[in-house]
Amino acid sequence: MNRIALTGIKPTGPPHIGNYLGMIKPALELAQNHQALYFLADYHALTTVKNREKLIQLTYEVVAAWIALGLNPDEVIFYRQSDIIEVFELTWILNCFAAKGLLNRAHAYKAIVDDNLKAGRDPDKQINMGLYNYPVLMAADILLYGSHVVPVGLDQKQHLEMTRDIAETFNKNYGEILVLPEASIKEEVMTIPGTDGRKMSASYNNTLPVFAPPKELRKRVMRIVTDSKRPEDPKDPESCNVFAIFRHFAAPDDIESTRQRYIKGELAYGDIKTELFELLESTFGSAREFYNHLLADRDEIDRILIKGAEEARAIAMPIIERVRKAVGVAK
Ligand code: TRP
Repeated sequence: MNRIALTGIKPTGPPHIGNYLGMIKPALELAQNHQALYFLADYHALTTVKNREKLIQLTYEVVAAWIALGLNPDEVIFYRQSDIIEVFELTWILNCFAAKGLLNRAHAYKAIVDDNLKAGRDPDKQINMGLYNYPVLMAADILLYGSHVVPVGLDQKQHLEMTRDIAETFNKNYGEILVLPEASIKEEVMTIPGTDGRKMSASYNNTLPVFAPPKELRKRVMRIVTDSKRPEDPKDPESCNVFAIFRHFAAPDDIESTRQRYIKGELAYGDIKTELFELLESTFGSAREFYNHLLADRDEIDRILIKGAEEARAIAMPIIERVRKAVGVAK
């Protein structure tokens, strides 16, 4: 049987180019030679998104985005975390094998505690148990399906280590029941610069959104910071934010000839920005139309998720049954 690749997507808004290169594209590539299970982590989002309409809208946006960017729901099992309730049963079981000290060290939780301490506040201020238990639900997401490989960003590395730690503790007690997953992290594309030169991130407001209307996208591309060299000055492509994005989308020959134009002083920053904009348009223009079309057809999205849930459940059932037997709640 094919090895299983699984990842969770937290619905946090339409993707930007950094998400696409760092996460979506590698995950879709992995799906070509794995049985892929990709899901919307809607109950993870509940740790922060506490507005009903917003959670619903974000969920549809994420499904539409992945399908528009090439996820084929006939090949990838694409489902919603909350549709497979067995994951919450497994979360409880795993809680009983997750050391509190392990969870105390989770980066996201620890960062808030540290901020609180620095500001002289109660260390637990603003922390709910969903945030604290986040890594255990994530471990259940992964272990419920016997996942072998988990494509994620670098920020999720610790969560994968915790998943393995919890699974090992469980297996030590009951035998080899749970599969230990490997993280698959594309470190080289984690450094896509945003328009201000810092890492592209929604929280810095420096993104190039994949589905922005052309006018908006052009404006943002033109805003990418460069040094102030004149068109005829020789330039260093390796330190240029525009080139750092361009190279991920252009054909190999074009990357090389553009590199030469930088070095020889045959290129103005305005020109390369226009070229980058056109490249992004030709890469994502039709996906944007498909995205808008899908978003307007929620019934179609619902149908895809229902089918995905059925297929995901078929994989999860024998595994949760084995776990129940192992711990002694089923015969
Ligand atoms: N925590 C991940 C994120 O913030 C989302 C996620 C939830 C996930 N469950 C998962 C990723 C299981 C991989 C596997 O992006």
